[in-house]
Amino acid sequence: MTASNASITTVSLPYGTAGIAAAARVIADGGCVAMPTETVYGLAADATDSRAVAGIYAAKGRPGFNPLIVHVPDRAAAEALAIFDEAADRLAEAFWPGPLTLVLPMRKGAGIASLVTAGLPTIAIRVPAHDAMQALLAATGRPLAAPSANASGSISPTRAEHVLRSLDGRIPMVIDAGPTPSGIESTIIACADGRVRQLRPGPISREAVADLLGVAIGGAGAGIEAPGQLASHYAPSKPVRLNATVRQAGEWLIGFGTVQGDDTLSARGDAVEAAARLFDALHIADSAGTARIAVAPVPDKGLGAAINDRLRRAAVPA
Ligand code: TXA
Ligand code: MG
Repeated sequence: MTASNASITTVSLPYGTAGIAAAARVIADGGCVAMPTETVYGLAADATDSRAVAGIYAAKGRPGFNPLIVHVPDRAAAEALAIFDEAADRLAEAFWPGPLTLVLPMRKGAGIASLVTAGLPTIAIRVPAHDAMQALLAATGRPLAAPSANASGSISPTRAEHVLRSLDGRIPMVIDAGPTPSGIESTIIACADGRVRQLRPGPISREAVADLLGVAIGGAGAGIEAPGQLASHYAPSKPVRLNATVRQAGEWLIGFGTVQGDDTLSARGDAVEAAARLFDALHIADSAGTARIAVAPVPDKGLGAAINDRLRRAAVPA
């Protein structure tokens, strides 16, 4: 794992047997690789490895932890992670492999790092149609979390050159398979509580989904469809006090660095480790037998800024 601010050499390899083998080694070592999909290039890491997932956020410099899409090779692998209702079943049957992401209730014991789902009980999952991503899934045997392979705030990459434009020196490898066929990020459809909602428009139209299911498809909210910005932020059920250096009566203290607590994000003050533990630590604190949660200060640099953004949201009463 590389520190968020260190410059590393980014290797660009053509898609092929050697490239996929090299990419699979990076993933197995807990790193992330930029990979073409049929939509955009994604920055892939092992979705079961919280430190590897933290590395994705570190490389992208995301200001917060939006939940990520998990890529799997086929429907059977998706079934192991998520619970399909009838609508989800029909959508997967019709559009997978392809540019459709389904947000579904996550299965207990799915083994996905909580940083991937941002602590949510749902998981965004898709079966990509691109040979390169499928080859990497086969070579690693892991579910792969992959947001678009661009630095936060820059446009989505549809060519390896786009990836390098914003992530050169920040990731170890990009696999180049030329321009992506679609260039638009996948359509996101949530199937929960017997309802079907479109969270993000994409290559598969709302009409195509409505025609298939024989029902009108609503959106997640009025107008602004920025999935992950809306209902997706995990907030504990009890008050959260930030920048705490000592535990007060009735608090569960989540430590960091020299601030020791009932738990710690990272005893050695490592932001990557802290990001990897963040949602687990909040869940543990939430279920602890105390009335309130306190969290030690985390320096606001690198991934620390994303951690603090997330902590501030957790501290706002629901
Ligand atoms: O085409 C794509 O989907 C590309 C390629 C690489 O697969 N990936 C992609 O990932 O666009 P990303 O991270 O840029 O977008 C993921 C979107 C975010 O808007 C996030 O909020 C939403 O998926 N999302 C993920 N999990 C979610 C969940 N459990 N509930 C609601 N929204 C979720
Ligand atoms: Mg994106």
